[in-house]
Amino acid sequence: MDMVFNGVSRGIRGEVRVPPDKSISHRAAILGALAVGATTARPFLRSGDCLSTMACLRALGVDLRLEGETLRVEGRGPEGWREPAEPLDAGNSATTMRLLAGALAGMPFRCEIRGDASLSRRPMARVAEPLRAMGAEVETVGEGGRPPLVIRGGGLRGIDHALPVDSAQLKSALLLAGLQAEGETRVRGGRASRDHTERMLSLMGADIFFEEEAVGIRRSLLTGGDLEIPGDISSASFLLAAAALLPGSRLLLREVGLNPTRAGFLSVLNSMGALVMESSYRERDNEPRGDLEVGSAGLTGVEVEGWRVPALIDEVPLLAVLGCRARGETVVRGAGELRVKESDRIAAMCSELTRMGGRVEELEDGFVVHGPTRLQGARVDSHGDHRIAMALAVAALCAEGETTISGWECVDISFPGFAALLRSLL
Ligand code: S3P
Repeated sequence: MDMVFNGVSRGIRGEVRVPPDKSISHRAAILGALAVGATTARPFLRSGDCLSTMACLRALGVDLRLEGETLRVEGRGPEGWREPAEPLDAGNSATTMRLLAGALAGMPFRCEIRGDASLSRRPMARVAEPLRAMGAEVETVGEGGRPPLVIRGGGLRGIDHALPVDSAQLKSALLLAGLQAEGETRVRGGRASRDHTERMLSLMGADIFFEEEAVGIRRSLLTGGDLEIPGDISSASFLLAAAALLPGSRLLLREVGLNPTRAGFLSVLNSMGALVMESSYRERDNEPRGDLEVGSAGLTGVEVEGWRVPALIDEVPLLAVLGCRARGETVVRGAGELRVKESDRIAAMCSELTRMGGRVEELEDGFVVHGPTRLQGARVDSHGDHRIAMALAVAALCAEGETTISGWECVDISFPGFAALLRSLL
């Protein structure tokens, strides 16, 4: 499906609640399913990826349902999970596949997990190898360690594992396996990536511990509870970027998750010269949240080094857009993981922004954008990737003329209703 945006000369204004956090929604469903007792999570993100997680859990015999915006899970512990009759379908969601792989490594039955064409290209050896070292049988059926995964779990023992990349999905998978393993499981090198799993495990009573370089867990049973999910800062970032780019903007976003392992984009926006203010800060269910107000400003290029990437990993496509309109160079390095996301996000942003007149140089692990340039409307492609589609929509608003984005339907993976919301703010 095509979506058309016209360049605008005025800013965006209004007060918005962005969709609930996608990462926390996945975890509420999965941890609720591993827990004993009822869990409710509200508001739960009703998007493609989270519905994939729900469908997989239901196929595993877990009793869960959405009532309005509330997810209800009747947890019966790991023992309540059953061998599924058919392969599980994780759709487009690597979070679903990797986190469930960790949980299933502890279960004494066979289970296959598949995904769509994009997910079938993503690396899974990084999760399969440590789960095998813990004692599960895990096969990567695709070429070169790619999906489908076939898992025959049970009889796990803890390991001490150094992550090859600082990935929250991988860290979470090992913690969910460790929760069911004998002895201690330690995961090293994952402290900069999002820590929602650790926070929710603590909240639900897991025997989790933190060391300077590692997070560890011992076998324990989770207890269900009631969770309030904040707005998704990654979804908010598209609106924040649009407001920072369009002169005359003033936007107030309510109840946005402000977990420091997710909020790296805010500090980069500030250092580029945008005005982002936090207020009504509070912590609930172990997750900080608050309101964000953003106004427009003239932007200056910025250099983002690898150590900052985990806390803004899903916002890197937006940095390329901001760089096109900022004075000077915007440089991102150490972001090689972007090449194995829903699409190769480095190649996708460089090629599509070039079509719009951006001056973008592709690096192996990032890019250099020379700004400012006046972007021109063009026909561009989402590469089937929700974050690329929405980043291009932001670029389209500050381009001259009309931009057509093909493959727009993928936006439903994380932000259903994004185009209508954006238009309502213009
Ligand atoms: C996610 C972790 C990130 C992120 C993805 C969601 C998660 O990937 O890109 O969109 O929910 O754990 P990493 O595994 O690279 O951290």
